[in-house]
Amino acid sequence: MHPLGKLALAAREHAYAPFSKFRVGAALEDDAGGVHTGCNVENASYGLTICAERVAVVKAISEGVRQFRRIAVAADADRLTPPCGACRQILWEFCGDIEVILVNPRGDTETMRMKDLFPRPFDAHSL
Ligand code: THU
Repeated sequence: MHPLGKLALAAREHAYAPFSKFRVGAALEDDAGGVHTGCNVENASYGLTICAERVAVVKAISEGVRQFRRIAVAADADRLTPPCGACRQILWEFCGDIEVILVNPRGDTETMRMKDLFPRPFDAHSL
């Protein structure tokens, strides 16, 4: 398995998902090779839940990191789980056309690019 996928699977172990029981982990690699991990953090109000991908992005941004290469996303399901719509917007805005590596606990892997997951975006160029 891709090493970043292994880190995403490990990050998934920290998920706070008592409501959905659906644990997700993400591992975001920056241009210098540093890795920023995240997991989903749910909330009793449901709507305040934050996805693993966005946790990884905001952790990196808040530490001054601005350039990224790829992100791996790992969920509990056998079916590979791509980023939700909100995460696609955030990933596009902060990371651009990075590689997205989906993995599951069985070791299945699929790689795609953000431009294919998020065609015709609304972003800073739109303003
Ligand atoms: N979730 C993520 O963390 N990332 C995704 O891309 C899809 C959904 C989380 C949010 C929620 O805690 C749980 O998965 C079920 O939707």
